[in-house]
Amino acid sequence: MKILVTGGAGFIGSNFVRHVLREKTDWEVVNYDVLTYAGNLENLQDVEEDPRYTFVKGDIADRKTVVEVLRSERCDRIINFAAETHVDRSILDPGPFLRTNVEGTQSLLEAARDVGVERFIQVGTDEAYGSLGEEGYFVEDSPLQPSSPYSASKTAADLLALAYHKTYRLPVVVTRGTNNYGPYQFPEKLIPLAIANAMRDKPVPIYGDGLYRRDWIHVEDHCRGLLAILENGAIGEIYNIGADCEKTNLDVIRTILKTLGKPESLMRHVEDRPGHDRRYATQAAKLRSELGFEPEWSFDRGISETIRWYQEHRSWWERIIQGDYRRYYDDQYKGRLEGGGARREGDAG
Ligand code: DAU
Repeated sequence: MKILVTGGAGFIGSNFVRHVLREKTDWEVVNYDVLTYAGNLENLQDVEEDPRYTFVKGDIADRKTVVEVLRSERCDRIINFAAETHVDRSILDPGPFLRTNVEGTQSLLEAARDVGVERFIQVGTDEAYGSLGEEGYFVEDSPLQPSSPYSASKTAADLLALAYHKTYRLPVVVTRGTNNYGPYQFPEKLIPLAIANAMRDKPVPIYGDGLYRRDWIHVEDHCRGLLAILENGAIGEIYNIGADCEKTNLDVIRTILKTLGKPESLMRHVEDRPGHDRRYATQAAKLRSELGFEPEWSFDRGISETIRWYQEHRSWWERIIQGDYRRYYDDQYKGRLEGGGARREGDAG
């Protein structure tokens, strides 16, 4: 089996490439990535020399090149991780999200039709379902109510993929995963940002009251779910991927500070994210019952190993923080952290 992994130099993509090479000794992987700010070949340095691994620099929106690669490399299946993924960046500038996530996915679907593949996995998000109240869970046929430009663009991509199955019989499977964490996550996301800031004794920004809830899955569990779907998921179907691990942002940050031995006074409540979804909680019952998926990582083990990874790979994230990312970070946080609205955890609101 030979697979085309698009966006394989990003956080989840690079973990997936490594996972497949480890689990499937007779598979080959072509990593197709345009290397935007979050794509980093350093994430895959340990597999560069593996003869089963090939890297091709390219854009999913460049249909001609994708077709050439699919033909010359004779790829059997495609899994699409290539995406703009950060909600806050989509609020600052939605354009790249529409270009990559919507137009790019549509172009990739066309390339897959041109060449003909056994399977096309569209890696999606539970943010497609919007926000929950205090009760209930997302299931695969919950209404789609995306809130941010990011989640609207990912929902569009996921619906396009399903439409290509219905209209053109393209063998598509769509996944909707919960919040991932683990090694190589770009430090714009909550968990790596909190770890990197706390390690440098810098304030950790908490949007609003911090009682927003996310459903966390360790990236390796997500990769195991994706691999099961890539192998045996039913064509034309949607699979939620989650690990039943709902936590408030405050709980997550407290755990990080405690593990690092840092004081809670580093927590800063800052101005909220516009359109911020209050709660995500996803049931992956279909993936469990149909494909035998069971998460292996508890949050306690996952978060402490993730923190250890960031401690042991300080140069990896420091290089990012000192590069272009700094401008984004200042735009996003400087005003919020220094403005009158910011308050320390525990101070009177
Ligand atoms: O649910 C799956 C989604 O999870 C993925 O589709 C997205 O690509 C991924 O970015 C993630 O979206 P979130 O918006 O939930 O992740 P983020 O790490 O940006 O934020 C997690 C929570 O933490 C959210 O309630 C916002 C809050 N937050 C985030 C940051 C960056 C803070 O309180 N402070 C922060 O500095």
